[in-house]
Amino acid sequence: MLRKTTILVLLLSLLSTAALLANGSRDSGTEDKGKLVFYAGLQEDHAAMIAEEFEAEFGIETEFVRMSSGEILARLKAEKDNMTASVWYGGPVDGIVAANEEGIIEPYVSPEAVNIREGFKDPKGIWTGIYIGYLGFVGNRTILKEKGLEMPTSWADFLKPEFNQEIVVAHPGSSGTAYTMLATLVQMMGEDEAMEYFKKFSPQVRQYTKSGTAPGRMAGLGETTVGITFLHDAIKYKKEGYEDIVISAPLEGTGYEIGGVALLKNGPDQENGKKFIDWVLTKEVQEMGKTVGSFQFLTNKAAMPPEEAMPIKDTKLIDYDFQWAGENKKRLVERFSIETSTTAPTE
Ligand code: G6P
Repeated sequence: MLRKTTILVLLLSLLSTAALLANGSRDSGTEDKGKLVFYAGLQEDHAAMIAEEFEAEFGIETEFVRMSSGEILARLKAEKDNMTASVWYGGPVDGIVAANEEGIIEPYVSPEAVNIREGFKDPKGIWTGIYIGYLGFVGNRTILKEKGLEMPTSWADFLKPEFNQEIVVAHPGSSGTAYTMLATLVQMMGEDEAMEYFKKFSPQVRQYTKSGTAPGRMAGLGETTVGITFLHDAIKYKKEGYEDIVISAPLEGTGYEIGGVALLKNGPDQENGKKFIDWVLTKEVQEMGKTVGSFQFLTNKAAMPPEEAMPIKDTKLIDYDFQWAGENKKRLVERFSIETSTTAPTE
């Protein structure tokens, strides 16, 4: 009898050691650690993977909603007095700067921010950069050939008569990608000249989409001849099997995004929010992006950029001012909408 009990105890302890080993550092406790809700501005599959990994690592129940940058901003404004989410994760930081103008951001300088490259974090902790994406052009090789068109290599190319109704781009009212385009051209040309450009550009556009990634997917599917998008998104779709995708970058230079993370003011789970921010800034978590086809450059000093991003590493970039872009977002989007007589789609 005694021997049986001893064997049983031994077996049980062996089993629990094995379970611990199998879990590695993963949390297996049962105490209530609260919840974490984040609003995700990056690719849906990337957000889902991060939510799952965070929950497994810390034992904190984690939920997210993927939205385009302008939608996140609108939702946060509406929820300001009754916040659902604690963190804004991903999407160009212009949106976070604009949210800060509305009093929605809680400054937080993560201890992990020391490992983020200079210039890719806000010194006051309004936002901290997690990745960098370059704006560019996407096209469908077969359709371009059929129509006898050259892939655009300059912003000016989109105004050519042959591109009339051949372009798909997101609307800056909903999309952070499209706002990067708007703020890029205003910074390159000056505001009035850029608005003149958009007045001529807009009738050339066949469709304004809600999200910034749609033009790349549509080019891949042959639903548009050309589009404007972040180049890493076009690379993702090409890798996923849309072989007809071609990309290019404007010769005169282009803008770029710093994708950021920020703590939200009066979010329900601030301590879990901070834990999440500290974790997503690490080299290991930044490098997880490429496993789901997120090929942005990374901000952690020790993180290795994805190999898939190497062909675009020499893209000519402008000296994009994120603070200015964020502070002027509301006004520039309103002016763009008036000058082009367009509004952001809701679907
Ligand atoms: C994609 C890109 C991100 C970018 C985001 C912006 O998810 O991979 O790098 O930040 O689009 O999305 P939006 O729909 O706001 O243009």
